[in-house]
Amino acid sequence: MATSEGDGNDSQCPMLSKTLSGPSQSLLFGNLLQIDANTHLSWTKWSKEFGSIYKVSFGPMGNAVVFSGVNELAAAFEPESENDNTFSDRWRPPVLEKIGYAGSISWENWLEGAKQRKHLMKEVFRSMDIEGLLKKEVDAVCDVLSNKEQVDVCELLNQANNNILLSLTLNRGDRYEYNDDEFKILSEVITSNHNRPVIASPMNYVQCLWHTPLYNTMRRNYKCLKSTLQPYIDSHRADFDSENIRDLIDGYLGGIEETSFDVQEAIDHIKFLFPPACSLRVAMQWVILFVTRNDDVQKKIQEEIDQVLTDADEVNDEVVTNKMPYINAVIKESLRLATPVVQLIPHCAIKDTNFKGYEIKKDTIIIPNLWGPNHDPENWVDPFVFKPDRWLNVDNLPPGFMPFGSGLRKCDGYLMSMTALRILTATVFKRFHLKGVEGEKLPSLEDSFMLVGCNHPNHFNVIATNRH
Ligand code: HEM
Repeated sequence: MATSEGDGNDSQCPMLSKTLSGPSQSLLFGNLLQIDANTHLSWTKWSKEFGSIYKVSFGPMGNAVVFSGVNELAAAFEPESENDNTFSDRWRPPVLEKIGYAGSISWENWLEGAKQRKHLMKEVFRSMDIEGLLKKEVDAVCDVLSNKEQVDVCELLNQANNNILLSLTLNRGDRYEYNDDEFKILSEVITSNHNRPVIASPMNYVQCLWHTPLYNTMRRNYKCLKSTLQPYIDSHRADFDSENIRDLIDGYLGGIEETSFDVQEAIDHIKFLFPPACSLRVAMQWVILFVTRNDDVQKKIQEEIDQVLTDADEVNDEVVTNKMPYINAVIKESLRLATPVVQLIPHCAIKDTNFKGYEIKKDTIIIPNLWGPNHDPENWVDPFVFKPDRWLNVDNLPPGFMPFGSGLRKCDGYLMSMTALRILTATVFKRFHLKGVEGEKLPSLEDSFMLVGCNHPNHFNVIATNRH
């Protein structure tokens, strides 16, 4: 069934230039059955054979072009003109269309709705005391570290991240205690929603699966999220004050200029915000893991903190940003080495374009691979080694290094995630020395696993010792 590269299948999809090469494909499923569950590893492997821009077939779902080099990523997403929206649409997996993606920020095309939703989110976050709520959450994380003999870090940071997301969306900027029953229910709903594959699901191309429990479970899960969120909309209506926007639901109730949404749309927005926002938990887990694994790095972080802050001083974001270059280097190096989000959410060409000499037609699926360039020895010395020092004295991120994406569809949680990582790292290592548990191996990069586009570390336990 295999057709050799360049023959046959192009005629099924006249969108692609014939000059793009790519792996040979079967007539029915294209390259789908050759793509590893760790999709980024396939994109990276093929880029070594076909170059940093090549085509793959998603069988019945169409053809895609993979951007797998820093030059391609920079040219596509960091264009000189802010108005260059050539690759700003989204490709939506068929199963998502079937479930109904209405009002979902991450999957919407670059139309008025998406622009307004991004604006709304930015304004809501601006009106909230984000640093304050992050500090409270990190204090709660520290309480757990301090009170338990040993701590499952992934579980703890999963709870912390869920609490942050609930504060931002429906809990009026407040936090729940981890043992609160309402929190436990909401947290379970967020986590189970995040754990369902969407892009990689075979339901996208074997549509008879839509009549099986696989699809029904997914649908039930989305419905459950909707019924869980509805009471929060109702209670926000009761005490809404347009002068005091407390969370995303308030933003939908009114008060954010230049936006007009029905408040019910908040449900779809929140529903589809949870999965991309879970990337923060993964990034936090990796930073704690890398620092715990590398005691020399932990010591350097603590020396830096001790030079800047006394025991009694509280960590604040401005101080960490401006006076703690080593912590900032550790965070950037963790985002590079672990690449928590291994590829951007699939983009789509808004119009016909000539990109780097290749004709790319309107509606072509674009897969931007972040993992490959982040581990390419052409770009980084010892790419698989954790070396924060490589970032010292580097003011701007190098072109094409974009852990949060770039351009018009850049992550909406970028600023708050960086604040969260800085506050967490500085606060935890100011207060504690962390080490693994005797007899238990701390996981490494090779032990990681993929879930919903995120590269997760395996579970690990730590013992925290008070430093002061
Ligand atoms: C360290 C943590 C995080 C990382 C590394 C990360 C990374 C990313 C990446 C790579 C994208 C895809 C951009 C693209 O397709 O061009 C994205 C999209 C997005 N992220 Fe994040 N993210 C993080 C945390 C968050 C948080 C905490 C939130 C919300 C509070 C969030 C909300 C979003 C949204 C809404 C999108 C879709 C943007 C759009 O379609 O225009 N992210 N993120």
